[in-house]
Amino acid sequence: MSHAEDHAGTRRDFLYYATAGAGAVAAGAAGWTLINQMNPSADVQALSSIQVDVSGVSEGTQLTVKWLGKPVFIRRRTQEEIDAARADDGATMIDPTSQNANKPGTNSDDANRSLDEAGEWLVQIGVCTHLGCVPIGDGAGDFGGWFCPCHGSHYDTSGRIRRGPAPENMHVPVAEFVSDTTIQLG
Ligand code: FES
Repeated sequence: MSHAEDHAGTRRDFLYYATAGAGAVAAGAAGWTLINQMNPSADVQALSSIQVDVSGVSEGTQLTVKWLGKPVFIRRRTQEEIDAARADDGATMIDPTSQNANKPGTNSDDANRSLDEAGEWLVQIGVCTHLGCVPIGDGAGDFGGWFCPCHGSHYDTSGRIRRGPAPENMHVPVAEFVSDTTIQLG
């Protein structure tokens, strides 16, 4: 069994299909799914903004919602994940920008990528910036964040590309908390 297959077989996160109101239908998400195989239908494309209930997301787990035809990873990070990300802020980054639509023009420091100031919540488009595969989470890869098995891209606990062919950090979409337990995308 390859390294990648091993990760895919043990991952615990699920793909949730968000609807206009809320709700979720769980299904296994394939790490190898190419994003162009997930093209949205017209009705899904129309949902430019959705609200996601994150009350059930416990620390150290990730919720994946489908939004505008793409997976969005919503991770509630542990203090260890936050500390690891912030300790590496001074490292040389492949992509030194935050890639955060909410904070354009900022650098890749973890505080510029997380949704809240404490860094507990990290929201990002779950698409590898190399050729569009969906990276595997749950601490995968050499930097404890996400790993893309397609060509071996390693992302850290901030979703920053640290090794491999991907040129950019995973993108952070427009997102905000609209209540204590609800995140709005778009
Ligand atoms: S698509 Fe992720 S490494 Fe190539």
